[in-house]
Amino acid sequence: MKDKVTILDIIKAKGQRKLTMLTAYDFNTSYYVDQSGVDMILVGDSLAMVVLGHEDTLSIGMEEMLHHTRAVSRAAKRALVIADMPFMSYQASVEEAVRNAGLFLKKGRAHAVKLEGGSKVVAKIRSIVDAGIPVQGHIGLTPQSIRQLGGFRVQGKDINQAKALIQDAKALEEAGCFSIVLEAIPTDLAAQITSSVSIPTIGIGAGPHCDGQVLVIHDLLGLNDRFKPKFVKQYAQLGGTIREAITRFREEVEKGEFPDTEHSYS
Ligand code: KIV
Repeated sequence: MKDKVTILDIIKAKGQRKLTMLTAYDFNTSYYVDQSGVDMILVGDSLAMVVLGHEDTLSIGMEEMLHHTRAVSRAAKRALVIADMPFMSYQASVEEAVRNAGLFLKKGRAHAVKLEGGSKVVAKIRSIVDAGIPVQGHIGLTPQSIRQLGGFRVQGKDINQAKALIQDAKALEEAGCFSIVLEAIPTDLAAQITSSVSIPTIGIGAGPHCDGQVLVIHDLLGLNDRFKPKFVKQYAQLGGTIREAITRFREEVEKGEFPDTEHSYS
């Protein structure tokens, strides 16, 4: 396996091989994702929902994201670590966007940042890239805009929305993004966007024709039995395994079976 995944490796992969990205929010998960040969680890702001129990991603801030990014970066020896810029860390001004993006590299030890939005955020992306910070774009369903989008719903279903998304992808490429996440977009439109840009597209709920795929690690591992969108494939059912193990522990303690001599000091 190659030593360290770089931004250039990601860009060069387009048309050559499929890319993989998974979220991680802590040292231990990052360790396993890194060991499994996944190209990119995203410290997603989905952290707000799957780890902290918020109903959306709006209330998480820079301090929490930096705290988790540091932990993930410590374990990632090979994968490219991308930190998700939280809501209102880049929207208000170009200066704030550049300063906060810089903190993810300086304090979080990430290799790149991701931020949501198309043409409307290109000025910020250009300035962040000019500061030497690689940026991954994110269009389609952008969870930080759910109040505007009217909820978590598939994007680009009508012709005008579809055209706007193609324009957004081109604008992100032009602004200097090294890749773009396409979230909750119909398969054919995601394929069209993928062939309209020369940087890789990483799909989530965007069908098989993207240049790579990303999933939230809790969804992949079956650690979230409260919500399972259509695009999620559970590669394990760890939620059930955890519940079973904890129940066995409780029962054994209650019956006086644990700890036995094997698990006690003489
Ligand atoms: O926050 C996140 O996990 C994401 C992925 C869904 C791409 O943005």
